Amino acid sequence: MSEQPTFDRVASVYERLANFWSLGKVGQMKRSQLAYLGAEERVLYVGVGPGDDALAAAALGADVTCLDLSPKMVDGVRRRFEAEGFSGAFVVSDLFDYEPERPFDVVAANFLFGCFSDDRRGAAVAKVAGFLRPGGRLLVADTGEPRGSVPARAFWYVYHGLAYGFSAIQGLTPWLPRFDLAPDLAAAGCSIDERRFVRLWPRGPIAFETIVAVRDG
Ligand SMILES: C[S@@+](CC[C@H](N)C(=O)[O-])C[C@H]1O[C@@H](n2cnc3c(N)ncnc32)[C@H](O)[C@@H]1O
Repeated sequence: MSEQPTFDRVASVYERLANFWSLGKVGQMKRSQLAYLGAEERVLYVGVGPGDDALAAAALGADVTCLDLSPKMVDGVRRRFEAEGFSGAFVVSDLFDYEPERPFDVVAANFLFGCFSDDRRGAAVAKVAGFLRPGGRLLVADTGEPRGSVPARAFWYVYHGLAYGFSAIQGLTPWLPRFDLAPDLAAAGCSIDERRFVRLWPRGPIAFETIVAVRDG
């Protein structure tokens, strides 16, 4: 049984809010991950949320499973798949309770790890990495931690402080989580293959990051 509140209350507005607030970067980051998955590969979207990324993967021919703690999020994704005529598997579960029948080729965990307190994040990363077969890829888009010059870091605090403040007030995330996933990924047996920092505008401060990691073994 999960102790976390669910994203049910923001399910209908989450995608539009995220894209508005990020000037479309959130959607762009998720779409860029399509380059790292192949048709017919087994792909898990964990903490799938609105599922625009999962839908795009299904359109590529991937065998998609969508998992989320929020029943409304999962129901929304299922309807999107049905409307487009795609099949997929849909699971309402806490990721900590999920045991897949077979490991996945690819797992996408977008804007998920900021939902956990610092003392649970490592366990969440390890659990998610454990859904992969050896050699499988973990795709992450997230907010990371402040980087760059003092003004760039100050921007990060204000920008994400407002966004996380909104979700923290509703009990959905901790207040302004800052995290470097590299140590947690290494502890989970994953090697980072590619890491990109994402700016809201050219030469602007770093606001987000994307990571492609590979499960060792
Ligand atoms: C910030 S939203 C991101 C949604 C989506 N991945 C995206 O990038 O648009 C985080 C999602 O993770 C889900 N989530 C949070 N904790 C979870 C857990 N322990 N198990 C499964 N899903 C969880 C929430 O319900 C929510 O839909």
